[in-house]
Amino acid sequence: MNEPVDLLRFVTCGSVDGGKSTLIARLLRDTALIFGDELADIEAASRIWGTRGDGANLALLVDSLEAGREQGITVDVAYRCFQTSRRRFIVADAPGHVQYSPNLATVASTADLALVLVDARKGVVAQSFRHAAIASLLGIPRILLAVNKMDLVSWDEGLFNGIEERFRHHALRLGFAVVDTVPVSAVTGANVLERSGDMPWYRGRTLLEALESAGASGNTAAGPFRMPVRKVDDRGYSGLIVSGTVTPGMDVVAAPSLKSSTVSRITSLDGDLEAAGAGEAITLELADNIDITRGHVLAAADRPPQTTDQFAAHVIWMDEDDLLPERLYLMKSGTRTTTARITDLRHRIHVDTLEHVAARTLSLNDVGYCNLALDQTIAFDPYREVSDTGSFILIDRFTNRTVAAGMIDFGLRQATNLGRQAIDVSRDLRAAQKHQKPCILWFTGLSGSGKSTTANHIERRLAAMGRHSYLLDGDNIRFGLNRDLGFTDADRVENIRRIAEVARLFVDAGLIVLVSFISPFRAERQMARELVDEGEFVEVFVDTPLEVCEARDPKGLYRKARAGDLKNFTGVGSAYEAPEDPEIVLKAAEHQPDELAGMVMSWLVEHGHLDESGGTKR
Ligand code: ADX
Repeated sequence: MNEPVDLLRFVTCGSVDGGKSTLIARLLRDTALIFGDELADIEAASRIWGTRGDGANLALLVDSLEAGREQGITVDVAYRCFQTSRRRFIVADAPGHVQYSPNLATVASTADLALVLVDARKGVVAQSFRHAAIASLLGIPRILLAVNKMDLVSWDEGLFNGIEERFRHHALRLGFAVVDTVPVSAVTGANVLERSGDMPWYRGRTLLEALESAGASGNTAAGPFRMPVRKVDDRGYSGLIVSGTVTPGMDVVAAPSLKSSTVSRITSLDGDLEAAGAGEAITLELADNIDITRGHVLAAADRPPQTTDQFAAHVIWMDEDDLLPERLYLMKSGTRTTTARITDLRHRIHVDTLEHVAARTLSLNDVGYCNLALDQTIAFDPYREVSDTGSFILIDRFTNRTVAAGMIDFGLRQATNLGRQAIDVSRDLRAAQKHQKPCILWFTGLSGSGKSTTANHIERRLAAMGRHSYLLDGDNIRFGLNRDLGFTDADRVENIRRIAEVARLFVDAGLIVLVSFISPFRAERQMARELVDEGEFVEVFVDTPLEVCEARDPKGLYRKARAGDLKNFTGVGSAYEAPEDPEIVLKAAEHQPDELAGMVMSWLVEHGHLDESGGTKR
């Protein structure tokens, strides 16, 4: 490991018009400049950021934003370096109009200080509070407020004092131990590097002095050893150490299996190592061959991580589309990806008052406290103990957008007390007794498109053939099992989740299940498809134009919706996402229900679900 050099890593928060870029430009231009002129790539930038105490590599990195532009990459976190006689600095910020991006959140989670910038003319706005709250959630220990554009408010002392007081009060409540406030003008340079004659009333530190004297936080080397495994090959297990140190001879465990072994050798690009610490990319050889794959975490045996498939976490929502509890998202934590659902949104945190507010969803920039359930067990640490193995992002499975960043508070125990009960009569046996091949015929389409009528015809034919079936119909189920649900997006997600589970059980019971629900969202239909085996889910898109459904209007609901008496009606006030690749498309406006039923029956015969005679098909 390199000699520690004094390095302060800070993130900037504030909107563009607050003058953030001017301020950074001034710090860069006017400080005893930089190290070399080599342009490094973005990866190098984040690597150096991640390496505590390693100032030597700074020479590599001048301005990752520039480098990104040259490489044609859109950068959502830019790193810049500067140096004074007292210390070296790396500043990470979101260029342009990029808001709090997931990358920035990840970077900020290891920052020593957050520099919040406000415009003196506007004072502390909700966004400044939000940035401070997020910084506090991410565990940044110090906060520095720069009140910018003092030149535009005639260097008004009273105004500055008012802003300072309001912000300090809030920041202290958020748990920041140290809150510094400096009145500056990025344009004139006042109080950035040198005290300004324009504000003789201000006797505190300049911005740079405040940055120079801020204590850098402790070393991640002190934490427990953690290395998410990125690659496994003949040479051993490779990855980046995110916390702690490792030495040959040390006992380690692989999480989540918790199988143990001993480190026999540590290598890096520089050859064999006697020790390696946080921020270093290494390869470990172990004494035993324990089953380890990418996504596992190698950890100190005496301080192992916890394992769980359910936990409580703070979540910062970062997408334009609201959070939908119970929807499946991808969760990435370290090198592992799993699917995750938010099973319970316990509360939203009001960022101005820090109050807990009851909420059904989270919108862009909201912070919430949630329970999450995963489809497999993972290793984790509470975020406050190890930020890397305690944080995650959520990704939308269809748009691939990162929708949230999260910080794990603690694991929930429930899963460890639940096991699957063995049942002797198998799924195959139940199907064999009925002499049929179970499946789900999932009808989706607008209200009034003809789903239920068609499904009903099909079920009659199946019954006549001696097949065993069950028709789950939206309108009917909403009288019983789902009578607590309405028609908000969140309720529809839950409606379909329950019905998909019921359909799965009925397939298990050996039935041909017909499901007739609008089921407007692709994500939930996909979720239902994934609950059963390949080939068992048959999506039937009842493709009737909205105009036709509306003209039919069997229940008079379109009329009500158009009159404004029925909110969230599918096709009018609520979206319908047509299937992209359904097994069957029924043009229900062009055929009689009996013909449509015939088409589905033929499809089932052609695909081996039924045989023509109505006889056995297994
Ligand atoms: S889904 O969207 O959650 O799948 P579901 O199929 O259960 O809907 O229920 C749809 C039925 O509820 C419609 O056929 C209609 O009779 C009735 N309904 C009442 N309000 C609405 C609404 N706002 N949007 C859609 N259907 C509604």
